[in-house]
Order: sequence, then C-alpha cells, then structure tokens
Amino acid sequence: MLRPRYIPPEDIFPPNPWAFEAVRYDARLARELTGQAETMFALSNGYLGIRGTAEEGMPVREAGTYLNGFYEHRPISYGEHAYGFPTVGQSILNCPDGTALKLFVEDEPFIVPQAEILSYRRALDLKAGTLNRDVRWVSPTGKRLLMRTVRLVSLAHRHLAAIELELIAEDADVEVAVSSELENYQPLSADTMDPRLAEGFVGRVLHPTGTQSEGSRAILSYRTASSGLSLGCGMDHSAFAECSIFTELVCNDDSAAVIFRCKLSRKRPLRIYKYLSYHYCDMPGSAQILFQAASTLDRAKTHGFQAILERQRSDVGRFWARADVTVESDNPRTQQTIRWNLFQLLQASERAEGHGIGARGLTGRTYEGHYFWDTEIYVLPFLIYTNPSIARSVLKFRYDMLDKARARARELGHRGATFPWRTINGEEASAYYAAGTAQYHINADIAYALRKYVEVTGDEEFLWSYGAEILIETARLWFDLGFFSDMKGGRFCINGVTGPDEYTAIVNNNCFTNLMARENLRYAVQTVRALERLRPERLATLVAHTGLERSELGHWEEASERMYLPYDERLGVHPQDDDFLDLERWDFASTSEDEYPLLLHYHPLNLYRSQVIKQADTVMAMFLLNGHFTRDEKRRNFEYYDPLTTHDSSLSVCIQSIVANEIGLEQKAIEYFDFAAAMDMSDIGGNMMHGAHVAAIGGTWLALAYGFAGLRDSEGHISFNPILPKAWSAFKLVLTVRGQTFRIEIDHASATYRLLNGEHVGFSHAGEECVLSSAEPVLIRPVGPLRADPGGFSKPN
Ligand code: BGC
Repeated sequence: MLRPRYIPPEDIFPPNPWAFEAVRYDARLARELTGQAETMFALSNGYLGIRGTAEEGMPVREAGTYLNGFYEHRPISYGEHAYGFPTVGQSILNCPDGTALKLFVEDEPFIVPQAEILSYRRALDLKAGTLNRDVRWVSPTGKRLLMRTVRLVSLAHRHLAAIELELIAEDADVEVAVSSELENYQPLSADTMDPRLAEGFVGRVLHPTGTQSEGSRAILSYRTASSGLSLGCGMDHSAFAECSIFTELVCNDDSAAVIFRCKLSRKRPLRIYKYLSYHYCDMPGSAQILFQAASTLDRAKTHGFQAILERQRSDVGRFWARADVTVESDNPRTQQTIRWNLFQLLQASERAEGHGIGARGLTGRTYEGHYFWDTEIYVLPFLIYTNPSIARSVLKFRYDMLDKARARARELGHRGATFPWRTINGEEASAYYAAGTAQYHINADIAYALRKYVEVTGDEEFLWSYGAEILIETARLWFDLGFFSDMKGGRFCINGVTGPDEYTAIVNNNCFTNLMARENLRYAVQTVRALERLRPERLATLVAHTGLERSELGHWEEASERMYLPYDERLGVHPQDDDFLDLERWDFASTSEDEYPLLLHYHPLNLYRSQVIKQADTVMAMFLLNGHFTRDEKRRNFEYYDPLTTHDSSLSVCIQSIVANEIGLEQKAIEYFDFAAAMDMSDIGGNMMHGAHVAAIGGTWLALAYGFAGLRDSEGHISFNPILPKAWSAFKLVLTVRGQTFRIEIDHASATYRLLNGEHVGFSHAGEECVLSSAEPVLIRPVGPLRADPGGFSKPN
C-alpha cells in the first residue's frame, strides 16, 4: 500500500541539508518529473505562491501563480439534488504567470531540453529562501553561455516576487534578446475522474478591466464575474550591462512582454531584475488595484533586488532560529527532508494573515485551494510552538467566518454554528456530503486547536475576545446534533456523522467525534465560567450578542458527562462507531497494489460496508485525547486498527507514527515517520505533482515533536518523554511556550533542555517537574531505554 514512487538518485539530487537541489541535468528525469519538480521547487509566502516552472516557460506541466483566497464561484451540479446541498463552490484561480524570462541567442530560443548543456544546478535554497538556477551551455552557433537566475517570493513584502537573471557570454560576443512576460493563460479544465483534483472552469474567468504600461512596466487588471474580486498584477524591470540595451514593450489584455536586446561583449554580464506584484480586493473598478500593483513595484525598485534578497535571507534565518529541527543519522536525506518540510510550513503560513491555509498551500490547485481541518489539527500546533502570531491570525480567520457558520447551521436545521468542511470564503464548498458536510468533527477540531493555542501561548485575551464565541456556538451545535438515547441507557449519542476515516461514512457514535465533541462542550462550559469570574462585562456582551442562557451550560455539562463512548468488552477495543465491528473485513489479500488508493477503484458503498480505513480515526483520537485511553487500550486499539488502515490519505501515517511511538512500537514509529516525511520528496501518494501535502508536512513536525520528543500539552501542562530511534544519534527541536524559547536536545543517554530566550519555563520530563530559568538555563535529564507511561495517561476519564 505505502511505497515510495520515487527515490531521488543521490548523484543528481544530493542530500544537501540546506537545499533541495538537482546538480546535473538528466533529460529523462526532467521529462518524467516536470510536474513533481514544479511542486518541489515552488515558492510561496502564504499569500502569493508560484510553482517552480522554468524561466523559459517550458517544459511545463502546470504553471501556477496563486493568491490565497483569490477564487471564483463555480456551480456544483448534481445528478439528483437534495435540500442543503451547496450549489455554488469556490475554486482558487490561477493568476497571470510572470516567471517567464525567455532567452534568444542569435534568434535561437534557449530551452534546456534542446540545449547542449555543459553544467546545470537548480536549487531551492532553504537558508536564503530562493530558487536558484545556474546553467552553462553551448548555443546552436557554438557560443558558450552562462545563465544564473535567483527567484524569490518575498516574506517581507507579501505582494512581491522578484527574479534576477544574469547572462554571461563566456567565449565570444553574442547578440541576445530576453523576453520578460506576464501571461494570463486561459483556465485549465480538469480532465480527470480523480475527485481530489481541481474542477477547472470552462471559458474565461478573469475579465480584463484595463492595463497600464510604460517603459519596462506593465500592469494587467481583471475582475471575476461572480465572486466579485478585482485582481491587479504587474511587472517592472531594471536592466544593466556595459553595452546598450534596447527595450521594447508590448501589452494587451492578457499578456505583456518587455523585450531587452543587446550585443553582449565576452565576459561582460547582462543583468535583468524583474519585479512582480500581485494584489486583489473586493472593490469594483480597476483604478485602485492598478494603483496598488504599481505601488508595490515602486517600492521594490526603490529597495532594489539586493536589499530584497538580504531581507529574505534574514527573515528565513529568523524562521530557522525559532523552528529548526535537526536530526543526526546515518541517512543524510533525513535532515534534508525534514528541512524541506519545515520550509513548506513557512511558505504556507508566514504571510497568510487574514486567510486560511489551503490543503496544498499555494503550490497547486488540488482541492481547489480549500481550507479543511488540516489547518487546525495538522498545521496549527507547529505554528503555536514556533510562530504564535500566525497561529492567532489563522484562528481569527475562523472567527471571522462565524456568521457564515451560523447561517449554515440554520440551513441544516441546527442551533449554533456549523463550520464548512471545505471552504475559501466561509461557505460550505463540499459537493459530496458523506465525506464533506457530515464531517461535523471540524467544529470540535477548531475548538481543540483554539484551546491548544490559548494554553500554550497564554493568550487568554484571544479566548475572551473571539474564542469564547466560537465555543458557545459550537457547543450549541453539538447539543443540538446529539440526544440522550433511551436505547443507550440515556447516554448522549451523536448519530449520522462521518469521522476522519472517509472510507466509513454517515455512522452513529463515531468514537473520535464523540470524544472531540465532549472536549468542545467541556471547554465551552469552562470558558463561560471563567468569563463569569474574570471578565463579567465581556460575558454580558457575549450573552447579549449570542442570546446565551444559563440553562445551556447545564445542558452542555450533562451532555459531556453522559457522552456515549463505544467500547467493546469482547475485543477490548473502542469501536470506531456503533457498527464498525460488525462489518466484514476488507479482503486485503486479494487487493493488488495498483488498486490503491481504493477511492479511485471502488464504489464508496464497497468501502462503507467493509472494515477498511482510509486514515487514522480512532488512532487519531488516541493521539489528540490521549488522556482518555490507558496504555493497554492504546495498544489494543492500535493493533486492531493499524492493519485495516490503507493510509490512502496523506494525513494518516504521521499520526500512526506518534501513537506507535507512545506504545513502544519503535520500528513502526520510524517507518511511518519516514513515510510521512517523504510524502512529497518520494511522491508516496503519486500525486505530488499537483501540490505539496501540507497536512502531511505539518504531521511530520507533529511526529517529531509529539512522537520522538514525546511532547504532550494537555491543559497547557508541557511534558516530554523523549525516545530516539536507533537509526538516529541526536535530535534537536526548538519550541516557544508562553513567549519563552527553549531547545530540547536528545541523544540515546540524555535530554538536554536549553533556554534560548526568556526567563522561566516549566515542564515535566518523564514525570519529573523541571524549570528552566535564567539562573539555571540548562538541564540534563537521563533518557531511559523504555518509555515510561507518561503521568496521568493511565486512568481513563
Ligand atoms: C482527507 C481529509 C483531508 C483532505 C484534504 C482527504 O483525502 O481524507 O481528511 O482533510 O484530504 O487534505
């Protein structure tokens, strides 16, 4: 089931710990991996993302320039419609592509696959935050040339991307032309039956609203017909050479080109700096958006490329200081893979303020650019521990969608709020309710992430101002959705939902959902009570705003106390739901490797009537709510569910790794970790050409922090129970807790805790309370060969 589709050969892709790079050109690989390379080399800052296409514009699989939250509506059509099905979806749009810097040497186009290459290196530089390429080749007329490009998507200026091109004729004077382009490709339509891919549009989506062009600058503007968003994108340039450069500009509604021509003298470089700016807003008319795009270009030219590049390097440096994870092992690829993953988290989130984080970040259109539970459960913990202000803004974005979630709850006949399973603008965009709207757990996932954020950062202000309202509305939803069932001894049951495992749908009492709902209800009660004591005036405002009644607290408390949690005495396991254990086991022995993922080869009904699991579900509950299960239960549950799990979702293996770690299955833990970390680098799912798997990437960090470092943080109490896999000799992780930054350095004998920034941080190590302070900034504690049962985990509650 799980297998790497691709192992990067070391002679071409050496395992450089600070770069993902190809150090020589291999025509066959380049042809076969065009799409994968576009994802691996993609650049993004969380607002603007650009796939790693070549400057020549070809070969290309799918050029992509995306802006977080820039989307168009598209109709969702059903063969048979039913009440409450969303009829309008949202799809992230591909913006005009500005990466092209097409080179013509004595009128012959330079295209890598057709050129006689002398040397080649392309690298995603993880320290500088740039995509670099150096190519030396012989032109068709026998001249030797060197071209260097450096591309970046600025972390400091979120609307800006920039490219430096340097061209040197090494052995003779030569006439060259560079056509720098900004191109609005017509929409790509999807020709696939894979439900995960983007639907695509037919016809024009971006309607031109005017252009501006002068000198070496061109700006195009558009408006979307239905979502009502205006887009402005522009390019400007500076060019330098010792010879004269002739510049020509052509511009129309859908494309602009600035052409630079010169006769290069031998060894005298031509340098072109290209600045790209992208803005969108919801105001009609082009004047403002053209102005904004122009302002970004003005600022960029004033700063100049070098200053922008230096700033990028220092911003990325700051990221590594607070988020780096180092692993020493026999396999040098491990460190490179971990850093590439962490760098993707930076790229997906750093400037996402005001938006969510899409399932593929901004590296592809898969899943239409939608935000799922992936953000709260897989990415947010990393942000909470390394960049709390971004974590806050992502949660604030959910708060901003609360009114739409309230409206959706009304539509579904519920009280409170129902957050959409997938969305960009806050409205439900999932077209298949069984694996969409039915995943009510997203409401509890948001509440869970909110709690972790508040407890780890200590930002209670956020809880009072925004979080409490989310909790009230989601608690209302759970109380409305479930009921006290006579058939189940008066227990509170939640029926007709889908848990994380999408191969089992519309079930009663999904164990994960019930547990998460219980936490949501409890936290809501706890928060309202705390408000009553600490911030009565805020509570009064909330009561006025939400109509909260005192009796509701009693209801939520009762529902949480009497929550039905399925347990099978005979097997000693928690059934995934009421019926799961009655289903027939999937016939794995007769399922061939090429039938995975099963969702592409079997009707959902075949999957739903079998014991077969797409992704961690009860195992996920054991990770998120580990205090509910004893160690023995964890082991029995894991042993029951693990063989049934296909990992057809990339969200699965990281979680299995964490739980395997906790119950002492070291080999499984490391194997699953390796799959999670290499999800994209080795194309485990076979679809990374369509974009990076952001949840698996966040899950890789989860497996490092919660798995090998044994981090637990329930109720804000930070504890570690580290264990190093045999294949590693050392492992270091940096975390920030309540503003204090410290590093945990683990080897086979000890764990060293080192305060890097701050004055005081408390935690426990294998059950022993510890404090790092300015007086005692380093603590060394032994690491036992066997993991002790972490305190407080052994008694179910
Ligand atoms: C998974 C979901 C996930 C979605 C987006 C699906 O395949 O089953 O859990 O949210 O992908 O990543």
